[in-house]
Amino acid sequence: MIKRVQAWLSRKDGQRPVEISPDNIPQHVAVIMDGNGRWAKRRGLPRIVGHQNGMKAVKRATIAADELGVKYLTMYAFSTENWKRPKEEVEFLMRLPEEFLAIELDELIAKNVQVRVMGDTDGLPSYTRRAMEEAVARTDGNTGLILNFALNYGGRKEIEDCMRSLGQEIQTGALSPEDITTDLINDRLLSGGMPDPDLLIRTSGEMRLSNFMLWQLAYSELWFTDVYWPEFGKEHLLEAVAEYQRRTRRYGGLK
Ligand code: IPE
Ligand code: IPE
Ligand code: MG
Repeated sequence: MIKRVQAWLSRKDGQRPVEISPDNIPQHVAVIMDGNGRWAKRRGLPRIVGHQNGMKAVKRATIAADELGVKYLTMYAFSTENWKRPKEEVEFLMRLPEEFLAIELDELIAKNVQVRVMGDTDGLPSYTRRAMEEAVARTDGNTGLILNFALNYGGRKEIEDCMRSLGQEIQTGALSPEDITTDLINDRLLSGGMPDPDLLIRTSGEMRLSNFMLWQLAYSELWFTDVYWPEFGKEHLLEAVAEYQRRTRRYGGLK
């Protein structure tokens, strides 16, 4: 008999139990953390206050994912397109990793979390890159949840860079065209070594990928919520996982 974990969602419409089976927890959850600006605007606050509160939601999501037994949690924190935003907002966002890690790194270490970063780190300001590098180095020996930040990440850029480097290897003779397989590409993308996301969560009611993990999301289950990212908590993750467990993944085949 399947052992069941019961969790309770506190919702405006009253409390209702959510049943989650410990046998079918998504191994890799990827999150498009969206709606920080609108969350702030609705409160008459500057957008950056939304980002500040979004940081707290990152912590809540990390703890909840870890408790559930998720192995990989990828958080879309800054896209290659987000540079189009006003300079002040970009600068604030680039300072956030430093602040987040100053507050949370010790606890992440205590929780055995491994911090990783996925994106064009060379394009980051030095203070952002240093903060991330330090977190990655200090959690390197850990064996728990992999908390993977997509920072200055773009799905098309990732594929473009991968194709360029494979092309160069073909040119030098290190690789032949027949060597290019799905496995090799999986390995060479920035997510190399990680399984594809089982579940993608996007907050704030937007239903698009915004250049996130275009290759890796090929067969992921997608879950959207109207909740703005700064409001995201454990109950929403449980709701997403409960829905994930009701889905039938067919991968093009038949049940
Ligand atoms: C998500 O919130 C954070 C980043 C994209 C960095 P937004 O800043 O996109 O918030 P909205 O979508 O404008 O509300
Ligand atoms: C996606 O959100 C990027 C991140 C969450 C980091 P955006 O707010 O940038 O996406 P669009 O512009 O609405 O597609
Ligand atoms: Mg947005």
